[in-house]
Parts: sequence; structure tokens; C-alpha cells
Amino acid sequence: MTARRPMIAGNWKMYKTCAEAEETARGIVELLHGSEETDIMIAPPSTALVPVSRIIGDTPVDLGAQNLFWENQGAYTGEVSAPMLISAGCRYVIIGHSERRQYFGETDQDVNKKIRAAIAAGLVPVFCIGETESERDSEKTFSVLDKQLEKGLEGLSEEQFRPGLIAYEPVWAIGTGKTATPQQAQDVHAYIRTFLKKRFSPETAEATRILYGGSVKPANTAELMALADVDGALVGGASLKPEIFAEIIHYKR
Ligand code: 13P
Repeated sequence: MTARRPMIAGNWKMYKTCAEAEETARGIVELLHGSEETDIMIAPPSTALVPVSRIIGDTPVDLGAQNLFWENQGAYTGEVSAPMLISAGCRYVIIGHSERRQYFGETDQDVNKKIRAAIAAGLVPVFCIGETESERDSEKTFSVLDKQLEKGLEGLSEEQFRPGLIAYEPVWAIGTGKTATPQQAQDVHAYIRTFLKKRFSPETAEATRILYGGSVKPANTAELMALADVDGALVGGASLKPEIFAEIIHYKR
């Protein structure tokens, strides 16, 4: 079995001016000590990508963006492309977050185009999927995830997809303080891995890191990270303060 490196990622969403983002990034870098076994990524708002990339420089913290547009350039007012994110120092890009789907009308087809654009430019996509509360209540969780996965990964070869990441973020757990139970998280993560096995291969399924997101905090990280198919966390609110994010990074202590 491939050992998957754990990953703790912070999605800052639409929080922090440039100065605030710099201060937070500096704080995280100072508190990193002893986190060598974990990959760390922070995704500030796009205005703060360049200043934050200067601060995290050669440290083990990687930079991620929260979104992109699939064309490389053109008359698309307000959008940012994959090559632009590369030039800002990004290695990762979050794609298909439920907030983008919910508030900006992103479809599975859009998500697919974004994933392809990211990969073509050399960015690692963090492909987000997850069901709403009513979908879970009506036992549609797995069919919803199947559709998001199938359409999001449409046309992608195994080579193209690797080393992409998947983030399972149940919509009902985002920003609500309600975390999936270990059983719920493990069941879905195992399901996603089985999907990847069928869609690509057992090797790619084993190698792909699947992050959990939704009200992750210091108090529940160790329990979630102990699950066989949970390889990391995508943290929203609790990633905004360096001391709290550092506690999550050091979940093994
Ligand atoms: P919270 O950790 O604030 O619930 O947000 C999760 C999330 O959406 C991360 O992308």
C-alpha cells in the first residue's frame, strides 16, 4: 500500500486584506516547527497570493488559489487564469467548492473545464465534492457524489489526473460547526476511493489523497485523520488564525 502524505490545507475564503494575509502567513510559518511529515497549503484570496507567496517562499508551506477560469487569457473581465496563478507562485488550486457552485452557479461541466485547465498549466487541482443536507436526508449522497465525480473528471486520463486531490466537503458541515461523524466521513472517503479505483486504477486510487472539509477544528482533527481513507483536511474558519491552524497542523501531538 502506498503511504499517502497527510495534508492540512487552509481555505481562507473571502477573508483578509493583503496586510492581514501577510501577518497570518508569517504567523503560520513561525509555528510550523515539527510538521515535517505533513504537507501544508494555504489558499488566500487572489489579491494576497503574491504577497503571501513571498512570505512562505522556501518554507514547507505551499500556496493555493481558491478558483480559476479555464481560458488562459482573453476578454473575461474579473477572471484569473491558471498560468496567472502559476506566475503568482501557486502550486494548488481549489476547484468546485460548494460556495462556488451555490453562489456563482458553477456546474459540473465548469468544474471539469477548470480541472483540465489547472492540470494543463501544471497546477494540482483540489477537486471539491459534497452533498447538501437534504440530499443526505433523502439518501442521495452517493448518487450525488457519483455525478460530481463522473462529470468533474470527464475526459481525464489517469496520467492527467495524478497527483490531483479530492476534497469531500459535505455542504451541511461547512461553517455550521456540524462535523461529519467519523463513520460518515470514512464511509464516503472509502466510497470515493472505490470510485477512483474503477475510474482509473487501484494504484491511482491508493495514491490519491482525499481531504475532509467541514467544521474541522483542533478538537476533531486527530479523530478524522486517524480514519483509514482520510488523508487530510481542508479547513475554513479554523485556518484563519495561525495559532489555531498550527494546532490542526500538529494534530499528532
Ligand atoms: P469550515 O471549516 O469553516 O467549515 O469550512 C470548510 C470549507 O469550506 C473549506 O473549504
